[in-house]
Amino acid sequence: MYSLKRKIPYYNDLYVEEIKNLNNDKVDFFSVYTYEKKNHVACESTLTESFYEIFKNIQSSKNDVFMDCGSGLGHILYRASSLFDKIYGVEYHPDVYKIAKNNLEVLNVKNCTLINSDILDIDEKILDEVNVFYLFNPFTGDIFEKFISNIVASIKRRDRKVLIIYLNVQCKDMFEKYSDILPLHEIRMVRKPVHYYLHKSNGVKNG
Ligand SMILES: C[S@@+](CC[C@H](N)C(=O)[O-])C[C@H]1O[C@@H](n2cnc3c(N)ncnc32)[C@H](O)[C@@H]1O
Repeated sequence: MYSLKRKIPYYNDLYVEEIKNLNNDKVDFFSVYTYEKKNHVACESTLTESFYEIFKNIQSSKNDVFMDCGSGLGHILYRASSLFDKIYGVEYHPDVYKIAKNNLEVLNVKNCTLINSDILDIDEKILDEVNVFYLFNPFTGDIFEKFISNIVASIKRRDRKVLIIYLNVQCKDMFEKYSDILPLHEIRMVRKPVHYYLHKSNGVKNG
């Protein structure tokens, strides 16, 4: 297994504020961890205010099934656990997974299934249940390309509303060939813009 290194994080005021607000030294949401694996990105958490800003701009319902794809330390799972009844987190690195598991236990999150796996190995049955996929630039290259094709195959197996939220966009091109089934939308955020792709089910025109 690729060994995990804790980087001394550069904390701007926003992260300092987050840590202060959380006020729980048993929870580690805002360290930065790295490991050397091709197409895998460092483990850093989305800011709370960015997460809520996204969901102010996109319609969602408690009944949507949420998955954080590359769920890192579990920060977004914690935030999403109050917006959705059922959530999944998938994290490749076993040590990161263990930290997230502890964080969610300390914070008493009950509605999350946390899976220690490569995102490409997720069971089709689980993939077909999910309709909100959250990606904070978790992986790139072949992994990203294959995962998007797995979501498209899942839509073909089980037609449903599917939303893919993509932050810190690096692989925009990989969606181009699916623009019919997953048209692109953009949210102009206070900080960086966020892309999302929305598939509407049952022949309803996307847009
Ligand atoms: C930038 S962090 C995002 C953390 C979290 N989603 C958030 O927004 O706060 C990306 C995470 O994706 C994980 N990751 C990278 N490649 C993966 C893969 N193939 N399968 C599952 N997780 C992966 C990394 O280990 C890392 O923890």
